Amino acid sequence: MQQKIRKAVIPAAGFGTRMLPATKSVPKELLTIVDRPVLDYIVTEAFSSGIEHVIIVTGRMKGAIEDHFDHAFELDVCLRNAGKDPLADRLTQATPSAGTISFVRQQQARGLGHAVWTARHIVGDEPFAVLLPDMLMIDKEPCLKSMIDLYGRHGGNVIAVEKCAPEDAHKFGIVSLEHRGDGPVVTGLVEKPAPGSAPSDLFISGRYLLQPEIFGKLEQQAPGAGGEIQLTDAMLALMDHQEIRPYEFRGRTFDCGTPAGFVNANLHMAITRADLAGIIGMEIDALATVERAVA
Ligand code: UTP
Repeated sequence: MQQKIRKAVIPAAGFGTRMLPATKSVPKELLTIVDRPVLDYIVTEAFSSGIEHVIIVTGRMKGAIEDHFDHAFELDVCLRNAGKDPLADRLTQATPSAGTISFVRQQQARGLGHAVWTARHIVGDEPFAVLLPDMLMIDKEPCLKSMIDLYGRHGGNVIAVEKCAPEDAHKFGIVSLEHRGDGPVVTGLVEKPAPGSAPSDLFISGRYLLQPEIFGKLEQQAPGAGGEIQLTDAMLALMDHQEIRPYEFRGRTFDCGTPAGFVNANLHMAITRADLAGIIGMEIDALATVERAVA
């Protein structure tokens, strides 16, 4: 029987430079996919996968993130006075109950690994999840839930991986695998391998299940690529003593930290939503007609 995964860390203290100027004063994690901040989808994924306590790593200029997950008392009163009780009820129901979300500040954006490390005292000595809040991962089952199921069978650490076109492998962190009797195990991680040298076509995506020993590795970790404390470097060190299993995610992933991924996520979520599908579908058809006429 494995120790239950109760806590999830969501690092949200980065600058989001690829989404400037939108992220100059608005946290990247609060940019909206249709009418919900992207972070809201990720927190929902965590809780619906069985997580009991979410720890969000924030930083300077990220205060709005805390407000988003708080009960907005004045708004609630105003909505109810205006007879909009169903909307007020919806907002209240969507707010996580008190004490199920904690916030910790990363005082300097020193990299993803460093952001995860700042949560060490709140996580304590137990395995935990990490979800990247700009990676919106859509499938029938939440990606994190499937990873927790895999962890339940083998224990250890689990990372989400996805297939890329072999010619794109040099853009990603790529895993090498060994196939054992009870399934594949990660044997290496290479950041952005030189074209043609990638050990597989599976790249590390936005979800991790990690044993608490990762904190010790992060503590000793020297800055890596970009002068940042990298989570993958600490995982490589962890691999000497612990197993890391890949979970191959086969749903759709949108990297909402880039303009293209962000726009695609909005289109996908709108077109798959019953109240918007018709309107958005008509707009896409109209655009296609214009494009055909111009071509
Ligand atoms: P990214 O590298 O995608 O985010 O990190 P970024 O640094 O904000 O984006 P760019 O590259 O400048 O456009 C993945 C997640 O890790 C968080 C980010 O907020 C993002 O959600 N992160 C990154 C931190 O919390 N702290 C850091 O020092 C770096």
